[in-house]
Amino acid sequence: MRNKTYKHMYHIFGKKGWVNDPNGSCYYDGKYHIFYQYSPDYPESTLKYWGHVSSEDMIHWEDNGIALKPDIPQDKDGVYSGTAFCGDGKMELFYTGNVKHQGDFDYILTGREQNVIYLSSEDGINFSEKELLMTNEDFPKSMGLHVRDPKVWKEDDKYYMFLGARSVDDKASMLIFESSDKKNWKLYKEYTPSAKLGYMFECPDYFEVDGIKAIGGCPQGMESEEFKFMNMYQSGYFILNDNTIHSTNEELEKDITVSNFKEWDMGFDFYAPQVFEARDGKKIIIGWAGVPDAPYNNAKSLEEGFEHSLTLFREISYDSDKKIFKTYPIKGYESLRQAEKEIVVADNKKHVTLDSSFDMEVCTTDSDQFKIVFGDANDNDDLIFAYEDGVCKLDFLNDTGCKRDIRRAKIDKIDDIRIFMDQSIIEIYVNKGEVVFTSRYYPNDDNIVAKFENVENVKAYSLEEI
Ligand code: FRU
Repeated sequence: MRNKTYKHMYHIFGKKGWVNDPNGSCYYDGKYHIFYQYSPDYPESTLKYWGHVSSEDMIHWEDNGIALKPDIPQDKDGVYSGTAFCGDGKMELFYTGNVKHQGDFDYILTGREQNVIYLSSEDGINFSEKELLMTNEDFPKSMGLHVRDPKVWKEDDKYYMFLGARSVDDKASMLIFESSDKKNWKLYKEYTPSAKLGYMFECPDYFEVDGIKAIGGCPQGMESEEFKFMNMYQSGYFILNDNTIHSTNEELEKDITVSNFKEWDMGFDFYAPQVFEARDGKKIIIGWAGVPDAPYNNAKSLEEGFEHSLTLFREISYDSDKKIFKTYPIKGYESLRQAEKEIVVADNKKHVTLDSSFDMEVCTTDSDQFKIVFGDANDNDDLIFAYEDGVCKLDFLNDTGCKRDIRRAKIDKIDDIRIFMDQSIIEIYVNKGEVVFTSRYYPNDDNIVAKFENVENVKAYSLEEI
């Protein structure tokens, strides 16, 4: 029986209401700031505000309440996603003001407005008046009304803004604007890749890790391939080999292909991430542990009036052999570890009884196969995480994963696994973040029993509530 709450102990979430994308993620004036898409009243994706938390160490967060409300005509149906630019001595926010007209607002050419809106702050808490920078009139006629989620950066004395879009002929598109003052923007590049990326590109990003440049984003409508692109919508990146975002569209075509699109996370619940720079220059990614339009109506947290969280903060590194980015939780989470759990060996098999929030490190004995089964003390199994024949799988055996079943990933061998559980979210990192699986997981019991096959070393810790 579950008596404990499903509310998270060390993930960012809204204690009441619905959370989706991280927004405005930055390090500014000695603090990390994370804003997030927030519907504060109900655990449903309704009218969007920006919630706000801040921290000195990315582990302990202060809740700063609601930062932005939909309170002008140009954002009356939602303060949608956006980013922070802090390169000129203040925090400057750019976001999409969403306006829905009466009737069906999801047509490509009618029914909605998407406005680029600006505000700034000296202290990260109090913001200037909102300023309208662009409306759909400023976007090329080849684009429909879905143009959103500005990402702003500076290069040589120019500012650039990247927007995700849906073209009039229903293709995922990218728009880049340029400006010399961050207020007046003109179109710099319009690019509709020929690769089959679906009909819409949300939450675009452009970043560099270990000297490798990449475009990130969330294409909607990609076709699934064996084990790949299995969720409703995707979230990943394209490494730009010899290109930058300034390359011609013809040159970019070499890098922006379906086979070069790498997913950040192979689990059920990961979307709309932002990459930002930490105090020490490391690149960090944080995402929403959810996906739009997925079936969360049976999530057990709904009874407690909340739904969703952000993921852990993951440091990004470039793996030059595999030519992928690895993402692994920042070291600071180790400071939350409490007593080490006892690993029991019975009938030659290991198991451990865990709390519903833990951090566990596992080394495999045989890098070709292993199995971990999570369930309760009465052998009611919820979830198998296993590796065999070059395929790693996360497989729910009952409804504790919101009635979803299986996600898989191909991987050459497995050496180590790190698993974080936080009441109703599980994040599994294979080979220090070569492959990651994130999923909502609502165990039926207060404790979780993990049973192991073919694992050598297991270290497990309860984690402190922040
Ligand atoms: C991605 C997204 C964004 C939009 C926001 C609205 O999850 O659809 O494109 O700005 O969520 O909440």
